[in-house]
Amino acid sequence: MKLVSVDKLEPGMVVSENVYTLDDRLVITRGSILDDKDIERIRSFSLYNIFVDEERKTVEPKVERALENLSYSERLKTTEEFIRFKQHIEENAERLEESFRMLANDSMPLDVDKLTEPVYHLFVEAGGTAGVFDMLHNLRDNSDAVYMHSLNVSLISNTLATWMRLPDDMIHLATAAGLLHDIGKMLLPSEILNKKDRLTPYEQKVMNEHVVKGYELVRVKPIDDHIKNSILMHHEKRDGSGFPFHIKGEKIDEVASIVTVANVYDNLTSRRVYREAMCPFTVIAQFEEEGLQKYEPNAIMTFLSNIVNTFIANRVKLSNGKTGEIIFVNPEHLSRPVVKCGEEFIDLSKSRGLYIEAIV
Ligand SMILES: [Fe+2]
Repeated sequence: MKLVSVDKLEPGMVVSENVYTLDDRLVITRGSILDDKDIERIRSFSLYNIFVDEERKTVEPKVERALENLSYSERLKTTEEFIRFKQHIEENAERLEESFRMLANDSMPLDVDKLTEPVYHLFVEAGGTAGVFDMLHNLRDNSDAVYMHSLNVSLISNTLATWMRLPDDMIHLATAAGLLHDIGKMLLPSEILNKKDRLTPYEQKVMNEHVVKGYELVRVKPIDDHIKNSILMHHEKRDGSGFPFHIKGEKIDEVASIVTVANVYDNLTSRRVYREAMCPFTVIAQFEEEGLQKYEPNAIMTFLSNIVNTFIANRVKLSNGKTGEIIFVNPEHLSRPVVKCGEEFIDLSKSRGLYIEAIV
């Protein structure tokens, strides 16, 4: 292990210790193999040195030089890592469908560790906390089936618990709870679950029963109470506006609070048959506005301050049609970073009429 100046970082170096900002936000995890985007991100913080391994690894750069005229997202989709991750998450979604069906009709014991194991492989394949959102945001044209959503929420819950620097057993519980949170949907009539249109108020009422049905399914099973509570409480909100019991504040399970943030983010940024996916920055703006009333403060603040950093160096389209690259995050206005469009620097915290319309 050696200490290297941030200016001297090169692709292929392996990070030896977790890297945190001065105000304690996780920048990159131990074991990450640096690529150009990671280095750009690390340099955007006021850090001087980080620890890296003596040995380097040769990595296929995520971004091929020959493809430089494509957007970051288009280039990412051509990489081997992305293609492999997409294939594996789809295979795992199929396997999860089978497991969920067997759990729902009680023909399989609930082995949380076995069920959760593939999520950790996907997590490593995505490149750890810094890479998960890159992968997920670019998988958005996928179906909105319960299984894919469950894997997404599990990966996001794991990332959020890691960002919150929770102990390993809590990170594991958040990962498992994220995976199982919607298990009750297996017990809903399929014509409601698979309806390709907006639900009627009655159908929505039936849909909302998935939390109680899911809880009933696992109530007597030998799994941790945090997981059971997450299945029951992942639609509760701190201000009492959630369901099924309108539980308020600290009475909501702490693991459920993590799953709630992951679930809302994944739902809003995913495409639905009756609406387009929302741009992550619109969701971030919404979270900034109502987050502290509705969500557990530590979970939502940690989520927001970290997720915006994963977008540094991404290309975005602004509401005036211009495209540019996010180069700096305003800590006071997380949904309004500084964007470099050609030679022009646009500080969205000062240009209130403008906003980020899409990540391209
Ligand atoms: Fe749900």
